[in-house]
Amino acid sequence: MSSLANKRILLGISGGIAAYKSADLVRRLKERGADVRVVMTAGAQEFIKPLTFQALSGHPVHTDLLDPAAEAAMGHIELAKWAELILIAPASAQVLAKLAGGMADDLLSTLCLASEATLALAPAMNQAMWRHPATAANVDTLQARNTLIWGPAAGSQACGDVGPGRMLEPEALVAEVESLLQPRADLRGKHFAITAGPTRESLDPVRYLTNHSSGKMGFALAAAARRAGAEVTLIAGPVNLPTPAGVKRVDVVDAREMQEAAERAADLCDVFIAAAAVADFRPERIAQEKIKKSDGSDRDTLALVKNPDIVAGIAARNERRPFTVGFAAETEKVLEHAAGKLSRKKLDMIIANDVSEADSGFNSERNRVTVLDPSGRTELPQSLKTALAEQLIGMIAAQAFSQ
Ligand code: PMT
Repeated sequence: MSSLANKRILLGISGGIAAYKSADLVRRLKERGADVRVVMTAGAQEFIKPLTFQALSGHPVHTDLLDPAAEAAMGHIELAKWAELILIAPASAQVLAKLAGGMADDLLSTLCLASEATLALAPAMNQAMWRHPATAANVDTLQARNTLIWGPAAGSQACGDVGPGRMLEPEALVAEVESLLQPRADLRGKHFAITAGPTRESLDPVRYLTNHSSGKMGFALAAAARRAGAEVTLIAGPVNLPTPAGVKRVDVVDAREMQEAAERAADLCDVFIAAAAVADFRPERIAQEKIKKSDGSDRDTLALVKNPDIVAGIAARNERRPFTVGFAAETEKVLEHAAGKLSRKKLDMIIANDVSEADSGFNSERNRVTVLDPSGRTELPQSLKTALAEQLIGMIAAQAFSQ
């Protein structure tokens, strides 16, 4: 596989226990055809030896700003100009602070200041350090300068704490690099509207019906379409995700609100993608007060009415009909049910996911889908939703704008 063939990646490694994972990162980047040069800080060398990275990258590792031998081979300014991506993984709190402050007191910080390459950081630190207002302010400063911040993930840490601060796994970082550097469709001038997340159908002031959708798939699609240059309106049910850069977000709660927002967005869009898990039914009435247990009975019934089918309504338009893509979340006979929805809802394309599969579908970082359209089907391997979204946006664009 050579998705990163000849891409020039400068990998900066700073001091942290996650530095050992960077060896696997180099291996994976090389496997995909990237040319990787490694720069290590003094702190990084306390955790892992440069020789490991020399063997994996096939090039001497750069460690010193003022090393005459290294400067003779490829000077630091030359290295800064050579890179098309500088990825620092792990990026310690100290590195974030230095870069935010524009300092150049070692080789890595000097290279970052001297380079016009895209800069991406994979933070790794103790959770309290990550949450500290000083680190948060540094991250804000860096993002305002278009530095990409990949992660961190949350979980148990080497120090015994639990929380955000773990470096993203090498596989996830490679997916980010691929989605950044891979050639993609040019969607400038195109408008995408995308629904994401669950809907929440109220029963009374304290209860509601909903599902396990996290919004990750729809948000990843919105980010991918935006990266390709499209104007993107993201209609989001109640989820806990940051808005992708440059995307216009409309927050909604229930299916009828989502339909209203979707119809408005569809008037202006070229492509409509329904990745939301819309509740098919809602309670017939919303009680004004909290519903009480009925005395003496251990059974009760809930009257439900059907919600509008948002994507079918948009696909049925005679005028201003966008290229319309649905998703199908199925637990059995996945392709059969998805094909039924493709034709019943009159969609141009449907993306079927088997949501019974482990580590795929609802509320997972990954998904495995089959894309169906009236002319056939394409099965895609299980991958991170961020990487999958890039692929799907490419496939959708190829069909929607083929003439
Ligand atoms: O959000 P994540 O945690 O990342 O999970 C992603 C996902 C599994 C939710 C996503 O990939 C997905 O499959 N979304 C569609 C889920 C779904 O509700 O499928 P469905 O088979 O019930 O509906 C088929 C299509 O009709 C979908 O495009 C849905 O958005 C749309 N629909 C359904 C009902 C309705 N009332 N209106 C709709 O527009």
